[in-house]
Amino acid sequence: MRGLAVGLWLAVLPVAGGAADTGAGAATYARICAYCHDTGIGPVLQGRALPPEYIIGVVRNGRAAMPAFRPAEIDDATLTDIAGTIARAPAKQESAP
Ligand code: HEC
Repeated sequence: MRGLAVGLWLAVLPVAGGAADTGAGAATYARICAYCHDTGIGPVLQGRALPPEYIIGVVRNGRAAMPAFRPAEIDDATLTDIAGTIARAPAKQESAP
C-alpha cells in the first residue's frame, strides 16, 4: 500500500489539483507544500532523505520564510503521512519548463 501511495503521488504531482483521492499526505502535499516547494520558493524536499521528524519539526515550528502549520490546519496523522512520503520519495526527474 505504501509503495502504491508513493507511485500514485509521483504520478499525480504534475497534474496539480486534478487528483482523485490518493491519500491524505500526498493530497495535502500537493495542495499546500507544493505551492512553495515545487516552485522554487522553498527548497526541493524530495530525494534528500530528510528525516520525517525533521520535516514535522519544520512544519510545526516554521522556518524563516516558511510559515508554521498548526494541527488545526494539518492534523498529526496527515503530517506524519506527508513527512513519510517526502522522506521516501526519490529525487524528482523533471524537465525544466
Ligand atoms: C509559503 C511557502 C511554503 C509553504 C506553503 C511550505 N513551505 Fe516549507 N519552506 C519554505 C521556505 C521558504 C523554506 C526555507 C526556509 C529557510 O530559509 O530555512 C522551507 C523549508 C522547509 C523545510 C526545510 C528544508 C531544508 O532544506 O532543510 C522543510 C522540511 C519544509 N519546508 C517542509 C514543508 C512541508 C512538509 C510543507 C507542507 C506542509 C511546507 N514546507 C510548506 C516555504 C514553504
